[in-house]
Amino acid sequence: MAERGLSNVKLRVADAELIDDEESFDAVLVFNAIHDQAAPDAVLRNIHRALGPGGTFLMNEPRISSVLAENIDNPVAAFTYAVSVLLCMTTSLAADGAGLGTGWGEQVARRMLADAGFVDIAVHDAPGDPGNAIFVATRP
Ligand SMILES: C[S@@+](CC[C@H](N)C(=O)[O-])C[C@H]1O[C@@H](n2cnc3c(N)ncnc32)[C@H](O)[C@@H]1O
Repeated sequence: MAERGLSNVKLRVADAELIDDEESFDAVLVFNAIHDQAAPDAVLRNIHRALGPGGTFLMNEPRISSVLAENIDNPVAAFTYAVSVLLCMTTSLAADGAGLGTGWGEQVARRMLADAGFVDIAVHDAPGDPGNAIFVATRP
């Protein structure tokens, strides 16, 4: 595990399943990597524990519904599912993981964030990126 300090910014390279920090960060940012995890529930709990009270978790994830039928009019859904089968879901399943894939969708993401202990979960447009959404949640 490598760690670097840039004044008040701490950068960490680590297996997200093994992070055991407690109340060490004000914010954690993850870009399109939660749905790839073998154990996304454990990773979300680790992130929650690593944040201090009031800390912010931001994740960039595909803008898609968890309900297949709701994605019929979504112009990027077919691409999103195709990428998932070829990479994201496969990566997770190969490690006997949850296999969420890119199509896990907003409803499942909100539920898993809440299950990990996050509150004030909000979903925003990703500027200039119709295929993704930005989830912002708080550790109470
Ligand atoms: C779809 S890629 C996204 C990469 C990059 N964040 C981006 O937005 O282009 C998913 C990333 O999740 C990383 N990843 C998967 N499981 C991980 C874990 N347990 N700990 C840390 N990173 C993990 C993979 O190495 C991969 O780089």
